Amino acid sequence: MSTATAAQNDHKEAQDFMPINGTDYLELYVSNSKQAAHYYKTAFGFKSLAYKGLETGSREFESYVVEQDKIRLVLTSPLKSGTDVGRHIDKHGDGVKVTALWVDDATYAYQEAMKRGAKSYMEPKTEKDEDGEVVTSGIYSYGEVVHIFVERKNYNGTFLPGYKKWESDYQPTATGLKFVDHMVGNVEEGRMNFWVDFYANVMGFKQIMSFDDKDISTDYTALMSKVMSNGNGRIKFPINEPAPGMKKSQVDEYLEFYEGEGVQHIAVATDDIVKTVSDLKSRGVEFLTIPTTYYDVLTDRVGEIDEDIESLRKLGILVDRDDEGYLLQIFTKTVQARPTMFFEIIQRKGATSFGKGNFKALFEAIEREQELRGTL
Ligand code: FE2
Repeated sequence: MSTATAAQNDHKEAQDFMPINGTDYLELYVSNSKQAAHYYKTAFGFKSLAYKGLETGSREFESYVVEQDKIRLVLTSPLKSGTDVGRHIDKHGDGVKVTALWVDDATYAYQEAMKRGAKSYMEPKTEKDEDGEVVTSGIYSYGEVVHIFVERKNYNGTFLPGYKKWESDYQPTATGLKFVDHMVGNVEEGRMNFWVDFYANVMGFKQIMSFDDKDISTDYTALMSKVMSNGNGRIKFPINEPAPGMKKSQVDEYLEFYEGEGVQHIAVATDDIVKTVSDLKSRGVEFLTIPTTYYDVLTDRVGEIDEDIESLRKLGILVDRDDEGYLLQIFTKTVQARPTMFFEIIQRKGATSFGKGNFKALFEAIEREQELRGTL
């Protein structure tokens, strides 16, 4: 074998030891799964997919699964006191527990991660029902978040073994949410590089972007962020840590109210952000607002875009451009009792970045919310 071929193979192996097809599902531990499911259906346009609870023989936990295009949310609550799910909710409030990753071989993915220093959450196990079998395994990430590897190539059922189809007469029309674009974690000050190294060494991810406190700061608050991506780019995990600022940053506020590290926001992609956001607003989803002066200089900053600026101004949609194109994005207010997790709606028109040009306007909008909460 020539040196060039060997180098190529090394490179290929470095890229491929953890092939991931995409996000399989996100599981949130919530205090009232039945009502949370109704919220995600009514407000965000998800549809009922699957259910697990007393009727299926699950005596401790109840889970509702809702789906929109490629996005699946599992909403889980305990049915009794003293469970680990209940303890998680007591400590953190509602939040993301599981980021499930769709792989071809969940045993191999687990072994590769463990070999490289992952902490085990769940050894590979096979579950079967009349629709086939699914292999799952799991490892810990930051805070109490876990990654579950899901191998479903031999399964034709609705969701996973143990779940039944959730039949519902109420199936709202979708709002155009298509897939998870990226999912952001907040970690403690000084821990960002630890988790960057974890994703690089244990999961084979590459760092594709980095922002320091000079990029991400206002007069008051600052944070640092690095973006980790898997080989095919379908999984992107930006990781934030707070940076010293004059006042408490949004990451500090999150860490205080979540009582630890966790998922800050889930960015979901749409092909028509003006339509999606109009639709979400009419269903009661609340978004951060941006001063209308943002739009006075928008064309100077990002050049010509396809969308009507007046529609963007009305909805508060932000725009940013990079070398490859532009993107449109907007952020919801936090979606549970505690000021912790929120959603981003994003439409990419070539751009592969994360809206650096909007950070200042965005963080000032978040500070206005923090001010109201008395947490700035
Ligand atoms: Fe984002």
